[in-house]
Amino acid sequence: MSWELLLWLLALCALLLLVVQLLRFLWADGDLTLLWAEWQGRRPEWELTDMVVWVTGASSGIGEELAYQLSKLGVSLVLSARRVHELERVKRRCLENSNLKEKDILVLPLDLTDIGSHEAATKAVLQEFGRIDILVNNGGVSQRSLCMDTSLDVYRKLIELNYLGTVSLTKRVLPYMIERKQGKIVTVNSLLGIIAAPLSSGYCASKHALRGFFNSLRTELATYPGIIVSNICPGPVQSNIVANSLTGEVTKTVGNGGHQSYKMATSRCVRLMLISMANDLKEVWISEHPILAAAYLWQYMPTWAWWITNKMGKKRIENFKSGVDADSSYFNILKRKRD
Ligand SMILES: NC(=O)c1ccc[n+]([C@@H]2O[C@H](COP(=O)([O-])OP(=O)(O)OC[C@H]3O[C@@H](n4cnc5c(N)ncnc54)[C@H](OP(=O)(O)O)[C@@H]3O)[C@@H](O)[C@H]2O)c1
Repeated sequence: MSWELLLWLLALCALLLLVVQLLRFLWADGDLTLLWAEWQGRRPEWELTDMVVWVTGASSGIGEELAYQLSKLGVSLVLSARRVHELERVKRRCLENSNLKEKDILVLPLDLTDIGSHEAATKAVLQEFGRIDILVNNGGVSQRSLCMDTSLDVYRKLIELNYLGTVSLTKRVLPYMIERKQGKIVTVNSLLGIIAAPLSSGYCASKHALRGFFNSLRTELATYPGIIVSNICPGPVQSNIVANSLTGEVTKTVGNGGHQSYKMATSRCVRLMLISMANDLKEVWISEHPILAAAYLWQYMPTWAWWITNKMGKKRIENFKSGVDADSSYFNILKRKRD
């Protein structure tokens, strides 16, 4: 074979690869590394069985669905949040739909903002199961309010709950993982921990802070390759997050969750989270377009990202001010894609 022919073949292969990647990207609902892991990587069914998994925010939304999918994998579960009756409901459903027994699920009430209680909570888990293989930092709240209309108490609450609460619990659990030289710390961050959007300045700040903290922590744990620190960054997912979002006042929540149909199904988001855990991925992005495309733009072409975000953001603020669902500026695109 001549050199010329070989070069042409190589160029053709490179072009084909580019086209395949582009097509994969157009249909993606997660970053391409995650989707590769879903196709070729390790299965949660092989990797996560028999683990002790502590999930915060397990009384609703993503944490609740996580409990259901994890229970089917045969793990031992610790379910934490503030509302015990909701946790008991989740536990009952886990027991009904899996082979787990009563002794395999511990309901452990926990307020993430009550950092004084985190040490006792950690000890209670260790007393029950002897170890913590995976800590899923999932509990949190969001925000829907313009900065100028938002009291400082709201910013304080978002940082105390989403950031400091998560850091505090992680600091309690980490020594036991270091002792065993293994464990996974999985934090449900958000694409708003990477990109930014109006109406969520305090939420964005708390999630950006979390990403910085865990990325830095990972570098400190480089001598412990068995301890995996993962950031999970979802876009819009069906849950109660909008209904529970703080408004300008710390005592008031949005109350109405608005449209959910355009958001990713909670079950799909959680399946991708499990794939990430099984494959020890450091950071994953879980979202459909156009939010996923926006994340790639923010990462690789920030100037374009600012231009598009400002355009979409303007509409988002207009919708919010006129009492329409703030996200309806882009949810029509997603709806059209689905129909
Ligand atoms: N859904 C989305 O579109 C989306 C997108 C990106 C990221 N996320 C992230 O996903 C995580 C889960 O949210 P979700 O969407 O499932 O919302 P959700 O349905 O509102 O669930 C939030 C969970 O957090 C718990 N929580 C709230 N305040 C708490 C506190 N002080 N102490 C302990 N637990 C507390 C809630 O339980 P109690 O009220 O019983 O305490 C509930 O179980 C959050 O970190 C959120 O930022 C969600």
